Amino acid sequence: MDAPQWWTARRVRLKPVVAFRYTYSIDGDLLARNRSMSCEILQKVEERIKRACERAKRKREEVLLLGASKSVPSQTIREFYGCGLRSFGENRVQEFLKKHEELRDLNIDWHFIGRLQSNKVKYIIDKVSLIHSLDRESLLEELQKRAKAINKVQEVLIEVNVGGEETKGGVEPDNLKAFFEKCLSANSIKVLGLMCIPPYREDLEEVRGYFSLLRDLKEKLEREYGVSLPHLSMGMSHDFEVAIEEGATIVRIGTLLFGGRR
Ligand SMILES: Cc1ncc(COP(=O)(O)O)c(C=O)c1O
Repeated sequence: MDAPQWWTARRVRLKPVVAFRYTYSIDGDLLARNRSMSCEILQKVEERIKRACERAKRKREEVLLLGASKSVPSQTIREFYGCGLRSFGENRVQEFLKKHEELRDLNIDWHFIGRLQSNKVKYIIDKVSLIHSLDRESLLEELQKRAKAINKVQEVLIEVNVGGEETKGGVEPDNLKAFFEKCLSANSIKVLGLMCIPPYREDLEEVRGYFSLLRDLKEKLEREYGVSLPHLSMGMSHDFEVAIEEGATIVRIGTLLFGGRR
């Protein structure tokens, strides 16, 4: 027997509502699951940082965990933010601007950690707290000009090419003093320390030498110019524990938090 007409009509009308509810609850579950996985991953990295600090007899608060979020979607950054991670470092200006817009509602502390073209400085100068990759005079001049224009003192780190690699940016250790002097005379720029990306070495003891070189260079500048340089930005997924043992105050971690993605 055919169903009465009122019944068919009701089923037809109800269908979209039921379908919507069902999808909504699956998405909700998925979000919750992703979030709890992200929190678990963050917790594991946190524990490793804590243990490295203990080994080095340092306080956990002395080391900032910076999520290196190049190629990481905004939604994932949002999840990690929900787990308590507040500082993220971006490498590419276009990508950064998009995420900055999409995540406007969050109180993220944004850093810029990639190679920075002078003509892009104007887009990021009012959006980042720390630029890790100051490595040449033309960039210093542009940063000075743009920071001054918006009445900001831009905090920066000088990137040092500790491995003398041609493919990498960074000031050569031998040129660091001269470059630092130029930075001192730029009154809208404040150098807070040094940053490096050492050559990749499987053997962590080989990487240790590059980190201790960066620390020595920082301490020499402090002594010679009577200034305090509180930061050493060094250590990534593969080597952050050694970096902490050698004095890192900022570790930039991507793969370990967000997975392989490039
Ligand atoms: C400057 C800089 N620091 C840190 C990282 C993070 O490296 P890893 O994925 O090995 O943690 C990257 C890579 O995105 C980077 O370019």
